[in-house]
Amino acid sequence: MLKESIQNALNDQIQAEFHSAYLYLSMAAWCEAKNFDGFGHWMRMQAQEEMFHAMKVYDYVHMTGGQVVLQAVQQPDVDWADSLALFKASFDHEQYMTGRINDLLSLAMEERDHATANMLQWFISEQVEEEATVDAIYGKLEMMGDNMHAIYMLDRELAARATPTPPAAE
Ligand code: FEO
Repeated sequence: MLKESIQNALNDQIQAEFHSAYLYLSMAAWCEAKNFDGFGHWMRMQAQEEMFHAMKVYDYVHMTGGQVVLQAVQQPDVDWADSLALFKASFDHEQYMTGRINDLLSLAMEERDHATANMLQWFISEQVEEEATVDAIYGKLEMMGDNMHAIYMLDRELAARATPTPPAAE
């Protein structure tokens, strides 16, 4: 049975993950409006992955006898100066999400909730991967500067991102 403090924090995390999905979908819409179709595809796949994150926490709350209480999802940003600013915003967002996961794990450890701490380990590894992936794209864009040919090639590369598969339930 989940302690109320953990249940509330996990419900907040479900909201944060759905907000991430909404933010990445907003980023996809920005890319598609600017004909960066590959970047847009990458952002759509990321939005899907964030929904899987939300549902992993959702399923865990139910599996442990808790109550999921969905919260309002705030409007995401809708405009960025250019593709470099877009991926910088994505990287900043992933760092913010990593901080949230770290705080959640600290809470689970304080509450001696080992099952929740164990579930959160998956997210700890996932955030390392997410930050590294976005940082690599951001780094490439920084090197490219105003070289539109190079940016076009990167756009084509990101169009190949595979559809994510849902993570296993705990
Ligand atoms: Fe679910 Fe990208 O954090």
